[in-house]
Amino acid sequence: MQFTVAIDGPAAAGKGTISRAVAERFGFAHLDTGALYRAVGMKGGDPVEAARALSPEDLARDDLRTMEAGQAASKVAVIPEVRQALLDYQRDFARRAGGAVLDGRDIGTVICPDAEVKLFVTASAEVRAHRRWLEVGGEEAQVLAEVRARDERDMTRADAPLKPAADAVLIDTSGMSVEAAVAAACAEVLARLPG
Ligand code: DC
Repeated sequence: MQFTVAIDGPAAAGKGTISRAVAERFGFAHLDTGALYRAVGMKGGDPVEAARALSPEDLARDDLRTMEAGQAASKVAVIPEVRQALLDYQRDFARRAGGAVLDGRDIGTVICPDAEVKLFVTASAEVRAHRRWLEVGGEEAQVLAEVRARDERDMTRADAPLKPAADAVLIDTSGMSVEAAVAAACAEVLARLPG
């Protein structure tokens, strides 16, 4: 069975948590596409070359979840040749047998426009910054500024900007528990699963 769940949204909206939970619940494979951009951003050198030569070791670095990696990812993600170099890997992953969940910024709009399920997971910038601050510490105002800067860059770039697909279901997790957000996402998948 081929079945693709596309989960897009801004930084720290809860996409990762929801994607992992959906994948586990339905036995689907999961690809965190942000990790690809983070690995390219942290590899250094020419980002286009880095994207073309991305290796499993690059994806296994233990600093990929840092704020620094997030900003570096957002910067290399504006380069069309970088996005192009990562396209086939993501599409092949989405088409694997047994179902796949991909989370990112452009999965429902560009990578998998025919995905069976498209979710756009969002929350207010303040709520997202607060959640990220609980993980990383430091100055909460600084975390909010970084979240806003990344939103701005991801939404205004010319190639594959962050935006909901016309047929995406919106899940605003601002006032939601993790359990409620996961349940809402699973309900959308259940409603579209064949049989
Ligand atoms: O989801 P994340 O925070 O790990 O993503 C890091 C950055 O990578 C994000 O700010 C923009 C970029 N990105 C992208 O452009 N397209 C994707 N599908 C996933 C991430």
